[in-house]
Amino acid sequence: MTKILVCGANGQLGQSIRSIHDQYIDLEMVFTDIEELDICNPDQLITYTQQADIDYLINCAAYTAVDKAEHEQVMARKLNADAVKNIGIAATQNNFKVIHISTDYVFDGKTFKPYSENVLAVPESFYGQTKLLGEKYLMETQPDSMIIRTAWLYSEFGNNFVKTMIKLGKQKSELSIVADQVGSPTYAIDLAQAILTIITKIHNGIYIFKPGIYHYSNEGVCSWYDFTLYIHRIMGIDCKITPIESKDYPTAAPRPFYSVLNKSKIKTSYKINIPHWGWSLEKCLCILKADRSVGIQEITN
Ligand SMILES: NC(=O)c1ccc[n+]([C@@H]2O[C@H](COP(=O)([O-])OP(=O)(O)OC[C@H]3O[C@@H](n4cnc5c(N)ncnc54)[C@H](OP(=O)(O)O)[C@@H]3O)[C@@H](O)[C@H]2O)c1
Repeated sequence: MTKILVCGANGQLGQSIRSIHDQYIDLEMVFTDIEELDICNPDQLITYTQQADIDYLINCAAYTAVDKAEHEQVMARKLNADAVKNIGIAATQNNFKVIHISTDYVFDGKTFKPYSENVLAVPESFYGQTKLLGEKYLMETQPDSMIIRTAWLYSEFGNNFVKTMIKLGKQKSELSIVADQVGSPTYAIDLAQAILTIITKIHNGIYIFKPGIYHYSNEGVCSWYDFTLYIHRIMGIDCKITPIESKDYPTAAPRPFYSVLNKSKIKTSYKINIPHWGWSLEKCLCILKADRSVGIQEITN
């Protein structure tokens, strides 16, 4: 068995991994969030990971409130950068590998070619800066780590753009949505499957662990406006959607205009099949429609 510790397991990606983990019979998994293991506490991290005797730590914990991070800078840096250094130090001391999740916000989004891992990251938001610093700290403290940058995450768990658009679409007859920012919506379950598939392939000796940065998002590209139209069409929501420019929807943190990740490295390194965002969105919305306990109830509240 390969033993894995998931930190930040109550978040969107953490819950996604938790919801599918029993399909991976070679993997023994332990799930923790801040109550069980605070990644900002270096001593607790070292003691916990030593006792748990893990092979991998998947770090899903992060400060993800992008706009709030502009003024809660100390907290954002502590969780997205300093805590990742704590993880790297614990990994070196207790000899486990780290799979850390990062973001498309490390790029400024000013180019119009999908971003490869070797493109220089120049974050514009404070959130992006702290996530990039976290990547740097991890590679300095435990170079035998994998960093997976992802983008536009949504799922049936937690709060996200998809759930917000369903809720607003039901409440309002008209919405104005930004149409000049493009990216690839990513179903957190697909990312969870990719991570656990990679570890399983390594466990079975099909591939070796190759440290470094990887990009993962769903296939295809759209704007927030296109994404909302699809969400409403599939959900049968009748709401007029007007496309607007970013300048008409000011946010505290600047957003990358072009946020598309090039996924060739992860696809060729581990033979991962990545679904188109439209197919995955349909799957997620099917679950939200069917399961009133996780979806619609929460959305309509
Ligand atoms: N969401 C997106 O659109 C998106 C896009 C690109 C990349 N990412 C990256 O993907 C990863 C997962 O994102 P997500 O959306 O799943 O995040 P999330 O839903 O915000 O989950 C983060 C989890 O970490 C927990 N946490 C906070 N402080 C902690 C601490 N000190 N120790 C342990 N756990 C702690 C949070 O608990 P509380 O809720 O109690 O604070 C929460 O359960 C992050 O690295 C994020 O930067 C996300």
